[in-house]
Order: sequence, then C-alpha cells, then structure tokens
Amino acid sequence: MELKQRVFSGVQPTGNLHLGNYLGAIKKFVALQEHHDCLFCVVDLHAITVWQDPGELARSTREVTAAFLAAGIDPKQQIIFNQSQVPGHAELAWIFNCVARLGWLNRMTQFKEKAGKHRENASVGLYAYPNLMAADILVYRATHVPVGADQKQHLELARDIAQKFNTDFAEPIAKAGFEDGFFPLPEPLITGPATRVMSLRDGSKKMSKSEPSEMSRINLSDDADAIAKKIRKAKTDPEPLPSELDGLDGRPEAENLVCIYAAIAEIAPEQVLGDFGGGSFSAFKQALVELTVEKISPITNEMNKLMANPGDIDEVLADGSDRANQIAEPIYRKVKEIVGFVVR
Ligand code: AMP
Ligand code: TRP
Repeated sequence: MELKQRVFSGVQPTGNLHLGNYLGAIKKFVALQEHHDCLFCVVDLHAITVWQDPGELARSTREVTAAFLAAGIDPKQQIIFNQSQVPGHAELAWIFNCVARLGWLNRMTQFKEKAGKHRENASVGLYAYPNLMAADILVYRATHVPVGADQKQHLELARDIAQKFNTDFAEPIAKAGFEDGFFPLPEPLITGPATRVMSLRDGSKKMSKSEPSEMSRINLSDDADAIAKKIRKAKTDPEPLPSELDGLDGRPEAENLVCIYAAIAEIAPEQVLGDFGGGSFSAFKQALVELTVEKISPITNEMNKLMANPGDIDEVLADGSDRANQIAEPIYRKVKEIVGFVVR
C-alpha cells in the first residue's frame, strides 16, 4: 500500500507569536500548501503543559488561527483546526505513553530547559509532551513535518516511537495488510536561513514567546513603529558587515539579522552580504526595517481584522476539526485493532 504524502505541523497558542514562528514555521506552511495536503494545528493540549489563563488560551488559539489565515493558508484546501477538538490526539498519545521509554524522554533538552531547577514541580504533561507530539503527527500518518530547528529532537523521538510501534506490533500489522509497517517515519522539514531565529538582544538565545523582554522579539502583533524601534535597537557589534559568509563567524547578532533579511526577502544570506557587505549596520538596519514592515504589516493588519470576528475564526476551527477527525478516526480505529482492543 503506497502511503500518501501528508504534511502536519502545530503551533502552540501561548501568546506572543513572533518573527521566529513566522519564518521558522508559518511561512513554510504557506509554501508547502501549493503541492501537498496539509493539516495545520493549533496545539492547545500542548499549551496547558504549563499553566494558561483560560480566557487568554482561547484568545491565543484564535490568534494563531488568524495568523495562519492572514499568512495565506487556504482553510478550504487545507485543514486548520485546534487539537482539543479531535479526540484521536489524546487517545493515541496514551498508547504512545506505553510505547515510548522513560530513557528516551529523559534525554529531551526542551523538558530540561522548561522545567529548569524546579523539575519536581513540572507537570507530568510537560514531561510526556513529546509523546503527544508524536501522536499529533501519526494519528494522520503524516509523512512531512515543517518545524524550526528547536523541534528536531522531538521529531527524532516521533520517528523512534513510530519505529517501535511497527516492531512491537509487527505481526498484527502484517496481518492487517500493511507490508511496510503501520506508521511512516515522519520526515522533519527544517530548511532555509531562518530555522533558528535568535533574540534581538542576545544572539546566543533563540527568539522566544516567553522571554520577558519585548525588545528581544518582533511580535506578529507589532505595528510599523514597534518593528522599526526593535530593529534599530537590536544588538550588533562595532565591525561593518562582511562581504562573505565566513565573516559572520563568531558574530551571532550580525548573522541573525542577515538571516532574517534573507528569509523575508527569499534570497540567500550570501546575496544579502553581496548587497550590504562593507556597509554600516545602520544602513542595513534601515533596509531591514523597510523590508520587515512591508512583508509583516499586511499580515498584522489582516490578523487584526480577523480577530474582530471571533465567530468566523471558530467556524474555521470547527470545520477543520470535523475534516481532521474524518482522517484520524479510521486510523485510530486501526491502531486499536492492532493493539488488541476490542472494537465495535
Ligand atoms: P511554538 O511557539 O513553540 O509552538 O513553535 C511553533 C513553531 O515555530 C515550531 O515549528 C517552532 O520550531 C518554530 N519556532 C519557534 N521559535 C522559533 C525561532 N526562534 N526560530 C525559528 N523557528 C521557531
Ligand atoms: N512542539 C511544537 C512546538 O512547541 C508544537 C507541536 C506540537 C508540533 N505538535 C506538533 C509541531 C506536531 C509539529 C508537529 O513548537
């Protein structure tokens, strides 16, 4: 049985959608929809692995949906939905809790970072989160997963889970007629110059939703003035921009701005240096402000318009969830049979 190519990705509704989310993930989604069947999920079950104010969670779920729509994802051709409306995610996650090994999860660097010194006090959900992420992808038997570089380790875990499930249940899987295993090993798509957009204040930290300093990130809700101020104040170093790529070695802040420019302009970083190398940072920053405002502000404006009608957003999510469920349900039913649950 030939497995159809299918794209799945998720974004957490945890506030402060930023340029890293856009360039590392959402912009890629828009491009992928041209040639693939895609599911784009607002992962609210993931969000509550750390405490979320309920009102804010709902607002943020609609905001991520608005960002998908404003960026240009077509909700009729593709599926946009929120995770909690499709029960198969949590159900398959439980089975994966029983497939994944403690030793595998103990290696997850994101858990270590997020739990920090207060590990004993972290939720069990935060620890088991990568199993849920594997279930998100595999409940659709998705084959390709566009994400930023920070998700690489979680994707490797999803592949390990798929592989172990295929091996543990090889016999019933073969009996059911699946010659190459039941789950595909999902491929991460981590490409281009902006797979890890860094903080504008510190080139050694990634741009993140949770960083307290607003100056560290460009939010998708920022207006043109805020974008200009943040880019002008972005940390740089005293040297002019180099003309060659290796001149960026050891200059993470300069490299970050060049890569942001390249990703937004859809050109190679080499070309950015070809155009701006030897020049001052202030001239380059001015060009970056203009480019960012030109490309991001229309998305921000459209998001604001969409957010004025939350009922319309909820309809997109309901319709997407119905269609997602139609794909997930028969797959999850097969999984239950394979595992040996009595089904009706
Ligand atoms: P999250 O906000 O953690 O749900 O992330 C949503 C998507 O954005 C995931 O694919 C992340 O890998 C990606 N992402 C988050 N932060 C960054 C960043 N600083 N640079 C590039 N991609 C990012
Ligand atoms: N864990 C991802 C993040 O924090 C979000 C996510 C959840 C995801 N499930 C997914 C991404 C499945 C890709 C595929 O960014």
